[in-house]
Amino acid sequence: FPALSPEQKKALSDIAQRIVASGKGILAADESVGTMGNRLQRINVENTEENRRAFREILFSSDASISKSIGGVILFHETLYQKDSSGKPFPAIIKEKGMVVGIKLDAGTAPLAGTNGETTIQGTLLKPNMVTAGHSCPKKYTPQDVAVATVTTLLRTVPAAVPGICFLSGGQSEEEASLNLNAMNQSPLPKPWKLTFSYGRALQASALAAWLGKSENKKAAQEAFCKRAQINSLACRGQYVT
Ligand code: 13P
Repeated sequence: FPALSPEQKKALSDIAQRIVASGKGILAADESVGTMGNRLQRINVENTEENRRAFREILFSSDASISKSIGGVILFHETLYQKDSSGKPFPAIIKEKGMVVGIKLDAGTAPLAGTNGETTIQGTLLKPNMVTAGHSCPKKYTPQDVAVATVTTLLRTVPAAVPGICFLSGGQSEEEASLNLNAMNQSPLPKPWKLTFSYGRALQASALAAWLGKSENKKAAQEAFCKRAQINSLACRGQYVT
């Protein structure tokens, strides 16, 4: 028996298509309390619930045009119940802007059979890393090299029926993550799925650095966030020109 009714299948498919609609990807604002603490420590901001809330309010209250670049937002459990300074729940703010609200569902990593200690995620959308060189690798690879290696791997493993592949950005700078995504979308290899972003660090790093925990920096932080979102919106269409 099918696990889902035709109505449920259609609802899921519609959500997936909205998230990866042309020029759109995911804002991964789903850092756990500990991970958010690491991000805040770098800008010397204390890891309190209020500081985590305040930074997320900056992201979610960005100009409504952000929904041209962001199709969906993933929240951490704590954030789902938080509100902006006027008392409006974050999920309502995100939905009003026309973006899909999701919650971190992954159940951590598990050993990947047939590998030497590699792990795979259990649960969340297809959110793989790109194929990039290790940090200690002396050879520099171009975004085009990353694109060929990544798209080739996906062509060998991912069914064409998957609507979109939303890359994470961990280990890359904001600009590298955008250039690599752009190169993939410019590559002549067949791409039966949308190739887009589910970036946490590559959408938030310069916003965090602009914020520094100070309310007077709200506008600068929002501008930094919107700029990265717009660049990644171009990159997921292969239209980012530096
Ligand atoms: P990073 O882009 O910071 O690797 O996070 C991506 C993500 O999807 C987390 O859920």
